[in-house]
Amino acid sequence: MKTVTLSTLQAYKQAGETFSCLTAYDASFAHAASQAGIDVLLVGDSLGMVLQGHNSTLPVTIDDILYHTRCAARGKGHSLLMVDLPFMSNATTERLLEDAAAVMRAGAELVKLEGEAWMADGIRELTRRGVPVCAHLGLTPQTVHQLGGYKVQGRDAAQAERIINDAKILVEAGASVILLECVPASLGKAVTEALDVPVIGIGAGPDTDGQILVMHDVLGVTHGRTPRFVKNFMVDADSIQSAFQRYHEAVKTRAFPAQEHCF
Ligand code: KIV
Repeated sequence: MKTVTLSTLQAYKQAGETFSCLTAYDASFAHAASQAGIDVLLVGDSLGMVLQGHNSTLPVTIDDILYHTRCAARGKGHSLLMVDLPFMSNATTERLLEDAAAVMRAGAELVKLEGEAWMADGIRELTRRGVPVCAHLGLTPQTVHQLGGYKVQGRDAAQAERIINDAKILVEAGASVILLECVPASLGKAVTEALDVPVIGIGAGPDTDGQILVMHDVLGVTHGRTPRFVKNFMVDADSIQSAFQRYHEAVKTRAFPAQEHCF
């Protein structure tokens, strides 16, 4: 399989083709996902919830992220490895640069960070130094307490307008990719059409350029309430590898997400 780079994602967007993304936190699952054709792997700070059992991503440290990045990097195969910066990595520019440098040294090929338009300066500093950035907008789990829970964002016109403007500002600052979480499908479409860079969606409807899910959700091993945008691909699959393949194919053919997964 051909190595996936940022240019590959850009080419997908230009060709109107979707691409698949999945979280992976270790070498074995990264290898299985890559072999299944998944384009982008994310060492997400969701590891705090699905691996460590916390009820939010806030306890995750940069050392946790670095450990799992090194593990996933050894199995990533042809896939592009995106890595999350944890809560408070953006506390100061110095810390942002140091944490980003550490994850790049550990094997990241794209750094993801949460934040609105105010993150533009940080993104400018990173991209100026050769660190490619994916900016995560919409439902940003690191601000869950401020948001009052894991709620759909951008439901009203003013909020939607703000998310579109923030995305444009962050792309202008240098973000190469935007990730949109839990927004109405109409907003997912509007942001995707407004930007030249690839947009990855999770609970953002069928029209974003790429789709991402948490691996544990794809395998049906998440406990507690299942969000609407999740699909368990283990149903009817006879192996983890085949569940990953089914997810990849469903994204590529736009069979996933279906109406029932959208807001
Ligand atoms: O941490 C994570 O896994 C994420 C995805 C939910 C997009 O940010």
